[in-house]
Amino acid sequence: MKFSNIKIAFFDTKPYDRRFFEQENESFGFDIHFFEPRLNPDSVSMAHDYPVVCAFVNDNLGAATLEQLAKQKTKLIAMRCAGFNNVDLAAAHRHDITVTRVPAYSPRAVAEYTLGVLLTLNRSLHRAYNRVRDNNFSINGFLGFDIFDKTIGVIGTGKIGLTFIQILQGLGVHILASDPYPNQAAAAELHYDYVSLDELYARSDVISLHCPLTPDNQHMINRRSIAKMKTGVYIINTSRGKLIDTAALIVGLKKHKIGGAALDVYEEEGDYFYEDLSASAIADDILARLLTFPNVLVTSHQAFFTREALTNIGRITLQNIADFLEGKLTIKL
Ligand code: NAI
Repeated sequence: MKFSNIKIAFFDTKPYDRRFFEQENESFGFDIHFFEPRLNPDSVSMAHDYPVVCAFVNDNLGAATLEQLAKQKTKLIAMRCAGFNNVDLAAAHRHDITVTRVPAYSPRAVAEYTLGVLLTLNRSLHRAYNRVRDNNFSINGFLGFDIFDKTIGVIGTGKIGLTFIQILQGLGVHILASDPYPNQAAAAELHYDYVSLDELYARSDVISLHCPLTPDNQHMINRRSIAKMKTGVYIINTSRGKLIDTAALIVGLKKHKIGGAALDVYEEEGDYFYEDLSASAIADDILARLLTFPNVLVTSHQAFFTREALTNIGRITLQNIADFLEGKLTIKL
């Protein structure tokens, strides 16, 4: 096979990663070594002499890891995800390591999931499931509201935000949006309005985050922004955990200022998400407190997790690697 002499160190491997990457690798023939540990300064030595490293959302690609990878002769980091906030790009450039990612593998997967958690949270499906299994057929505490005629604020109208807005078209809602680069053509076609963040906070019944995490917008949902929101607002985050100051969110939930939150991501998720920790105690008191609220739905960064998305992630990641090796890579970070 064309690339059989190219070794790839694949970190944070789960059974589904292996299945989809092996399937897509039939067309490339890379020599992929699947490692279970996450990439970090302790595990980086496993990638010794691997020209290519493949990593995911909770791998640690900070300066220390990158410096060691450079010493070990890694030339390419192929991220198998869209977000890249966990990569120190300045350090990668300094060490002449190229970084690629998968900018779009299935905006539908995340957008459909966002609608799913909104409906689940509003109608307490997550609680109803458990109650009925316990022969408890009471519906006390499950009162929701019609989504129809409500105002949904979408922060970030890129691929996922826009797909979410398309899906919302069938629900008869009012849509407000905020984005530093407004897409006015889409706004005209899909009947939504760009407003300032403050106006979006003040008018929305549901706020959904679809922007990337950058140094400028860390903790954009904080005590001050929550104070500007409607009482009873729902906050949905399928983007990145650090967009929300979770301690401030908890205060808002305790004061009933926030009516509910659906969180597929959490700012300190790295130690927990994707692992079965059912036999251990949670040391993170903020996460533990979040999990006590009946009106908070936490899921383990799974919005992307569809067959279509995993197929695309495998194919595009391996194509990025092939393009890099053949000098055809057009988009790098
Ligand atoms: P995209 O790059 O197509 O769109 C992002 C949009 O956000 C752009 O229009 C950009 O101008 C806008 N933006 C940037 N900073 C902003 C700010 N401060 N306020 C408002 N808007 C801002 O990205 P895409 O594909 O729509 O993905 C969005 C995010 O979703 C990714 O960055 C990633 O963090 C997250 N994601 C989460 C997944 C999950 O499984 N939970 C899976 C895939 C992506």
